[in-house]
Amino acid sequence: METELPSIFSAKRTSFVRTSVIREILKLTVKNSDILSFAGGLPNPNLFPREILSSVMESVIHENLSTALQYGDSSGYAALRFQIIEKLTDVSWAKSDSTIITHGSQQGLDILGKMFMDSDTNVLLEDPVYLGALQAFSPYQPNFFSVPMEPDGPNLYWLEEILSQNKIHVFYANPSYQNPSTYTWSLEKRKQIAKILDDKEILFIEDEAYRYLDFDGKVYPSVSSFRNKKELTFILGSFSKVISPGFRLGWVLVPDPYLSLFTAVKQGNDLNSNQFSQVVISKLLEVMDFKTHLQAIQSFYQEKKENLVSLLNKHLPEVRFSLPEGGMFLWVEYPKVSSKELMERCIASGVAMVPGTEFSPASLSSSFFRMNFSFLDNNQMEIGVKRIAKAYRDINT
Ligand SMILES: Cc1ncc(COP(=O)(O)O)c(C=O)c1O
Repeated sequence: METELPSIFSAKRTSFVRTSVIREILKLTVKNSDILSFAGGLPNPNLFPREILSSVMESVIHENLSTALQYGDSSGYAALRFQIIEKLTDVSWAKSDSTIITHGSQQGLDILGKMFMDSDTNVLLEDPVYLGALQAFSPYQPNFFSVPMEPDGPNLYWLEEILSQNKIHVFYANPSYQNPSTYTWSLEKRKQIAKILDDKEILFIEDEAYRYLDFDGKVYPSVSSFRNKKELTFILGSFSKVISPGFRLGWVLVPDPYLSLFTAVKQGNDLNSNQFSQVVISKLLEVMDFKTHLQAIQSFYQEKKENLVSLLNKHLPEVRFSLPEGGMFLWVEYPKVSSKELMERCIASGVAMVPGTEFSPASLSSSFFRMNFSFLDNNQMEIGVKRIAKAYRDINT
């Protein structure tokens, strides 16, 4: 039964909350296991470090239970913050005190939205943009601007235009193997844009969720590492794509002037991040060969990417995409169809992918779809691509 109650009692900001079609598709694919899904961004479960994890968890239960099952420091478990600084950061100012552990990097986005965004804040986004960032920031009602993306990063002409006509306060970007486009900023653009951000005194939120998913094992220096204005620089990292999203652990590197505010906002959210997860991940990092583990993920995803590329070339030569350097997605243009119609036909034929509209800051229609290649096995991928090809041809003939 429909009720009026939500509209009577809900806070005004809730009318700005965005839903996620991806989550809806995921629900659909859980309910109907016949749907082959290129829609999610799920790491492949074969890559979870099962064996070593079970021995680490057992040792945590025997040796660290009183810490692991207790409330913890709001900033995070000290040993883990150290490990992040040692292994997973590249900015010179980062220290373990500046590393705050969050419930996924997604929580970091929400906290930064709460800290920096009001209805008169001008926030620049990439176009297309990570949908979860739009969901995190939208309730704070900032004015969104967006810069078109090219395979090597933001279009510099449009970036300069936007910045010369507007006072941009915050720029949120996902420069490596971006979700959804998998576009990766070139070294040159990283340096150029870091300088522009410094000159214009723009607060930069750099999302590094996919940093270690380069197919060749390359690690791009963060844009932030080229910035001089470190006090205007926040970097988000995540264990989701390199260990498991189930632990819900990420981190934010927070510059000194904002450390106590960030921690206080986090306390209001959840007091502290899951302590058990933190102790387990910390012990895991102590004993596992992380480099070899990353190499296994990188080469597995490279193979998966090549498989999807060759299936599309074989069954759907009409579509266009650029070859990613890493990540989990292909950003595929399906010319001459309405994305809504293609999406409906695909779901009806038992296959799912995410329409580009979902990632458009202005919700504009798009001929692109995001196709994930990390999850399905090769046989399922072939059946899925054939179903998409049939749906596409049925519309076009
Ligand atoms: C670009 C990007 N940022 C952040 C996240 C959030 O990840 P998590 O909260 O699992 O760390 C995701 C998840 O897919 C993502 O794609």
